[in-house]
Amino acid sequence: MSKLIGPFTQAITLQSAPEKGALGDDTLDIVKNAGILIKDEKILEVGDFEALASQADEISEISGHHVLVPGLVDCHTHLVWGGSRARDYTLRMSGESYEKILEQGGGIFDSVAKTRAADASVLKNGLINRATRHLKDGVTTIEVKSGYGLDVENELKILEVIKEAKAEINADLIPTCLAAHVCPKEFEDKQKFLSYLENELLPQLLVKGLTNRVDIFVEPSAFPKEIAADYLQKAKNLGFDLTIHADQFHTGGSKIAVDLGASSADHLEASTEKEIEMLGASETVAVALPGASMGLGMNFTPARKLLDAGASVAISTDWNPGSAPMGDLLVQASILGIYEKLSTAEILAGITYRAAKALGLKDRGKIAPGMKADFITFPVDDYKEILYNQGKIKPNMVWKNGNLVSDV
Ligand code: NIG
Ligand code: FE
Repeated sequence: MSKLIGPFTQAITLQSAPEKGALGDDTLDIVKNAGILIKDEKILEVGDFEALASQADEISEISGHHVLVPGLVDCHTHLVWGGSRARDYTLRMSGESYEKILEQGGGIFDSVAKTRAADASVLKNGLINRATRHLKDGVTTIEVKSGYGLDVENELKILEVIKEAKAEINADLIPTCLAAHVCPKEFEDKQKFLSYLENELLPQLLVKGLTNRVDIFVEPSAFPKEIAADYLQKAKNLGFDLTIHADQFHTGGSKIAVDLGASSADHLEASTEKEIEMLGASETVAVALPGASMGLGMNFTPARKLLDAGASVAISTDWNPGSAPMGDLLVQASILGIYEKLSTAEILAGITYRAAKALGLKDRGKIAPGMKADFITFPVDDYKEILYNQGKIKPNMVWKNGNLVSDV
């Protein structure tokens, strides 16, 4: 049974927008008085509402003014954690650095202690609450990293929690193993810790079907680039897709990402012209994390320069208890846009199909035939209102896999 939904005042389809590089607003591919024809989980057609009506078995009429856009994709989050890091934030506001707090055993280590101590059911509830809020805010696909376990038992606990939560909610959760987040206190030698993960954890993830993605925090205070590259190469040999926390405070990670053909290099606040040029010439998606810049009070990822160099730039929340506690994709994307001078098309591409590309997903992020029927509406009469309101106007309807999952 095909179903026509509409009419929508405007549909921002992004149909022919390219994967890489700077985008003008002509690439928004706007359809006015739009209808969207779907069948099961897929989009069959988007076009003039009246013209599509004869092809539909069923029509779902929408009244009032609405702008339709693809379901949002958040390609970098750490949504499974125990406890709070409000104390860290207070310290950072008074001038203490993120790296110093970590060095003193706080920061990520604090979340690790609290996450290890938490029951799986508590962690699952926390994840479901956060992912459900995200879905209501229009985020239909959410990447979720482990990384507050740092040993086989607790990393498996977190990845199992993601798998269980995924079966219970409407948003798509894409799991990633970030066991190599920092070196836990019980290992004095970082290389020995990475060898332990390679031998004891990574093979199990594939057998148990928990994830096919591996991440690592490349940073002198976490894992230096020399040993990180070797770990990632081994993960790649096992068949994992790679993503990297790269160039957050020091450069190094982005070069490994490009050399190893990683799906994405995320953070990049410290990237210089050299890294920007290299990413621009590569297929690795450059992921800007404005929530981390705001949470740490540091500069934004040079998104404008990356786009001008030819990169595919995605924008993501990095939602986590430490560096990025806010977790509001639309607020963060609009703020990044005004500071970095991005076009509407560049911002929307960054939170839809380019973010999907960072996850290796080609079936979502645009409103086009054959794509997943994931789309959202804003109660406005022109698309320009969306970013102008800096995230204050939220979606009022959300469809995931063709089903209306939120209607407020
Ligand atoms: O992406 N930089 C490393 N990891 C996370 C932060 C994790 C935390 O502070 O708990 C990030 O910013
Ligand atoms: Fe992160």
